[in-house]
Parts: sequence; C-alpha cells; structure tokens
Amino acid sequence: ALVSLRQVLDFAAEHDFAVPAFNVSNMEQVQAIMQAAQACDSPVIMQGSAGANRYAGEVFLRHLILAAIEQYPQIPVVMHRDHAPTADICAQAIQAGFSSVMMDGSLQEDMKTPACFEYNVDVTRTVVRMAHACGVSVEGEIGCLGSLEIKDDASNQSSSAKPDHSQLLTDPDEAVEFVKQTQIDALAVAIGTSHGAYKFSKPPTGEVLVISRLKALQQRLPNTHFVMHGSSSVPQDWLQVINEYGGDIPETYGVPVNEIVEGIKYGVRKVNIDTDLRMASTGAIRRYVAQPENASDLDARKIYKAARDAMQTLCQARYETFGSAGYA
Ligand code: G3H
Ligand code: 13P
Ligand code: NA
Ligand code: ZN
Repeated sequence: ALVSLRQVLDFAAEHDFAVPAFNVSNMEQVQAIMQAAQACDSPVIMQGSAGANRYAGEVFLRHLILAAIEQYPQIPVVMHRDHAPTADICAQAIQAGFSSVMMDGSLQEDMKTPACFEYNVDVTRTVVRMAHACGVSVEGEIGCLGSLEIKDDASNQSSSAKPDHSQLLTDPDEAVEFVKQTQIDALAVAIGTSHGAYKFSKPPTGEVLVISRLKALQQRLPNTHFVMHGSSSVPQDWLQVINEYGGDIPETYGVPVNEIVEGIKYGVRKVNIDTDLRMASTGAIRRYVAQPENASDLDARKIYKAARDAMQTLCQARYETFGSAGYA
C-alpha cells in the first residue's frame, strides 16, 4: 500500500530501525527492491530524482512504482521525490500522487549555489503547508555535505583527514530553528557523507561519519527523523567485478555499513542509496556478458535478470542490516 514517509519513519523510530531509500529509474531496480522487501518483510522507500525522470519519463517512473504497490499490496511503500529544487516541482509530485517530497532548499533553484537559511526556511515552509494539506510528507535539508554540487570537493577529501570544513556540517542551532519554523517530517543532515561513488579515496580508518555531530543534533531534536544522503557503501567486491570485466573505476570507498548502523542509534531513519545499486547492476551485467557460454545468446532478459538478482541481494542485505526486515 502507498503510505507517507511520516508513517513509515514514525514506526521506524518506535522500533529503532532505519529504512533504506533506494533511487529508482527502471523496472529491474523496482522489482529487485520489492522482491527483497517481500523476502525479508520490510517496508519500502523508493525515490525518483530529476535524472530518473529524464531517463524513464515521469509517467513511466510513477507507474513503475504504482505497479510495485499493486503487485505487493501488503508491503508499505513510500513514493518519494528526491531533491526537488523548487516548490513548483514539489507541487507537481504531490499532484502526481507521490506520498513524500524532498524540498532541497539548501541550494538555490539552479541546484548549484548554496542558499541562505532564510530562503530555505521560507520555501520549505511553503511546501510543508501545501503537502500536509494533501497528507504528503516533506523532507528538508540544511547543511552542505549532502548537497549535489559539493560532491567533487568531497571526493578529493581523504577519509583519514577529518572534515576540517565543519561549517559544512549541519549546525544544531540552525537545525532546531529550521525544524521549528518549517514543521518538516524529516531532516536531511550533513554529517560527513557526499553523493556518488567517489566519497573517500583511502580505506576508511575509524569514523568517516561525524557521529558526535549527529549525537548533538539528536540531543536537541529527539523527535526529528534524520535522513542520511550519500549513504552508499561502495562495495569493494562489486568494484573488483566491474574492473575485472573491463571496467576502469579508480580506488574509492563509501560509508561503511557499520557506521550507518551506528547512525541509526542516533536518529537516522532514512538512508539514501543509489550508487550501490548502480555498482551491483553494472558489475553483474559486465560479468554476465563476458561469460563465453553467454556469447551466442540474444535474450537480453537474461542480462537484465543478472542485474536484478544482484540488486535484490544488495537490497535485502541493507534491509536486514538497517533493521527494517520483519517490520512490513
Ligand atoms: O541524489 C542523487 C541521486 O544519486 C540521483 O542521481 O540525478 O543521476 O539520478 P541522478
Ligand atoms: P549515494 O550516491 O551514496 O548512493 O547517495 C544517493 C542519495 O543520497 C540520493 O539522494
Ligand atoms: Na530525498
Ligand atoms: Zn541525496
């Protein structure tokens, strides 16, 4: 059934787990996410980005998620719009039937320039008023590390060097004020992650997440659900498979799963993952088509199935590790 983000995250908070929020842009991803959820009895959050809309088309993307809901009526599914740059785009998603939207007012409408706090409060508050009137949830964001355009800077940062740009981490005073003034359902926090595959260029030693900042945020906002963007773990086994079968991906590391589990102790309830599914499907496809016994096969469904199976395994591992398994 289609449910709001608020419903799922309130329930997650009651039971101390988090729900992975997977980005989707094609049928195989949607099916992998649902098959995994079915296998371990987990609630589901699927989210569509602007890039997903460009790839699949808004209508196809929406109907893929609606098909999943029809096929699995017993599983709670949140249909979420990821990183909407304007209130108008949030309104379109609400009208199209999304049960949750992220108003990313941490950036100006160009999705590049950091926005000021007053603008962010203003635009997010407008979206909350509109969304709540329709029973739709809203995720807001303050801070900078989760932001799309900071990705390149963050990718150059080594994991051994603690982020010295602490002004980019979510400020607890601002967070309190933001939640109070906007009445959002979930807050995306910047605690050391960045989007994409190139988060850390050296193997993680100790903490890559700034757990101390997360603790401080939770002390001030004990009833707020936190969202962690850029939460792919960049599985080294998939990276090796990709490179073994013709890929050329440089050394790179993500957020260790055990650190995400640590974050879940301090209020993280939604964990955004896109890159890990891209890696599993790319690796599985490269490996499948490279096998000599598949060389004369023209049934492309077998290629897509290899990708779907790989993504399903990864999704199920995340449901189980984040504790959402058993709570559908
Ligand atoms: O938030 C970022 C997601 O990874 C979406 O990426 O715009 O390439 O679909 P995309
Ligand atoms: P990753 O790039 O780490 O998968 O993060 C995705 C994300 O945060 C989408 O909003
Ligand atoms: Na989001
Ligand atoms: Zn994001």
